[in-house]
Amino acid sequence: MKYSTEISKRRSFAIISHPDAGKTTLTEKLLLFGGAIQTAGAVKSNKIKKHATSDFMEIERQRGISVATSVMTFEYQGILINLLDTPGHKDFAEDTYRTLTAVDSVILVIDSVNGVEAQTRRLMEVCRMRDTPVIVFVNKMDRDGKNRFDLLEEIEKELSLPLHPMAWPINSGKDFKGVYNLYDKKLVLFAANTKGGDEDTVEITDLQSAELDAMLGEKDAAILRKDVELVDGVNGALNVDDYLAAKTAPVFFGSAINNFGVREMLDTFIRIAPAPQCRPATSREVCPDEEKLSGFVFKIHANLDPRHRDRIAFMRICSGRFERNKYYHHVRLDKDIRFSNPYSFLARSKDVIEEAYPGDVVGLFDTGNFKIGDTLTEGEDFYFTGIPSFSPEIFKEVVNKDPMKTKQLEKGLMQLTDEGVAQLFTQFGGNKKIIGCVGELQFEVIQYRLLHEYTASVEFRPLPFYKACWLTSKEPAKLADFARFKQSNIAEDKDGHMVYLAQSEWFLTTERTNNPGIEFHFTSEIHKAG
Ligand code: G4P
Repeated sequence: MKYSTEISKRRSFAIISHPDAGKTTLTEKLLLFGGAIQTAGAVKSNKIKKHATSDFMEIERQRGISVATSVMTFEYQGILINLLDTPGHKDFAEDTYRTLTAVDSVILVIDSVNGVEAQTRRLMEVCRMRDTPVIVFVNKMDRDGKNRFDLLEEIEKELSLPLHPMAWPINSGKDFKGVYNLYDKKLVLFAANTKGGDEDTVEITDLQSAELDAMLGEKDAAILRKDVELVDGVNGALNVDDYLAAKTAPVFFGSAINNFGVREMLDTFIRIAPAPQCRPATSREVCPDEEKLSGFVFKIHANLDPRHRDRIAFMRICSGRFERNKYYHHVRLDKDIRFSNPYSFLARSKDVIEEAYPGDVVGLFDTGNFKIGDTLTEGEDFYFTGIPSFSPEIFKEVVNKDPMKTKQLEKGLMQLTDEGVAQLFTQFGGNKKIIGCVGELQFEVIQYRLLHEYTASVEFRPLPFYKACWLTSKEPAKLADFARFKQSNIAEDKDGHMVYLAQSEWFLTTERTNNPGIEFHFTSEIHKAG
């Protein structure tokens, strides 16, 4: 209980959305409220614009900028908020998935015009795997969006996420008049570009009052009364435990660009969002108020300067207190290391820190000691579980163009895949190296970095696979037989786990049907409970 005050005032979360829904804009408004920035436009957009997809160096440069905004820490009403940024570009989706393992809750931004989009679905799948509590912000209400009931139904259905409206919108687009806060019984009138979120708020304790007609006009007042009756009747008060158990998601409507509806959401967020929680590890559950430090690496960022091959490993603190210059146990390497320059992400001052607490993220300078999923403790041996690897979608064989540099190539491939840039597989019974990625872009990045950082020259030869499935079976003989018969489709991942590379959905279904004793998994956990 030593650190309970520090723990209880921390909230670590991420904003997730399909690109262009308004994540960057909302982030900026939250930072303004937190006083972490003074003016709008101060957050460097680290999103990778669509037109940049062919220019990977530009993307890497932007990723460089994004190190600084990877974690944004600010204070709001006595609560210390760690906002973990996630890359918007779909080719870096794995990075986002892993970042989601380091947060305690998320805010999901939905564009009221476009509704649920592809990236939203996938991100929510990851949240569901860990039962992460979600608050939904329906953005761009100043644009002609979908019908509010249809939109909520779409979100509920497509994301299998029961919703609980906290406020209710009055029209959208040019007729958008604001929201009615269902809890405080307040009407918040819309005005574009409200400074500091001081919206025009009117307390309406009785929706039947003539005041409402005077403010909204008879027609809109009547619609609001009907809507509220319907919504309130169905939902009642928010059950915070249901939210914390990811069984229901509170919903807000607003317009981030106009700073409308943001403060309301933030006020609710700090009231209900979870402080750091206990987390499952391989041997036991680890709770934040334990005296001894533990934490895990969820992201590694390479230095863009090829002369310095150092990297920054992002570690989420899960228990105890992290101290500068103290020795910690690197479980995988069975080695004690200390950090003289741990990096903090306070948006105002990017500084060396002396200490950090559960929920915080520290940046550790790394010369190649870390890979994703590594755990630091004060001596105990365990790993945090639930850090997933997803199946890549594009597979290519690595062709070494310079046999003199084979060693450098091997080292480069190991290190780059440790960073989580891509996944590395080795063909079963051979030594063909296969790289699997979610986007074409990573192949360019890998080729460039292998050449410039490791002097290894490679080409990639496309392979006709579309998915990797991790295989397990209670009958080892069956697995061995399968591997022998399907040799050209079998590979090993970096941790020695057997993987089936499927050419198509048809092949996959056929093999699953023909091999009932073998389980095909679409994700692999870096560390499993055992
Ligand atoms: P992202 O990080 O999720 O990719 O989205 P971002 O915040 O960059 O927003 C995408 C676009 O949507 C931006 O316009 C932004 O100004 C706009 N936007 C954000 N919130 C709202 C809103 O509440 N209402 C309306 N009407 N637009 C909103 P852009 O033209 O792509 O970029 P920019 O030139 O404005 O930066």
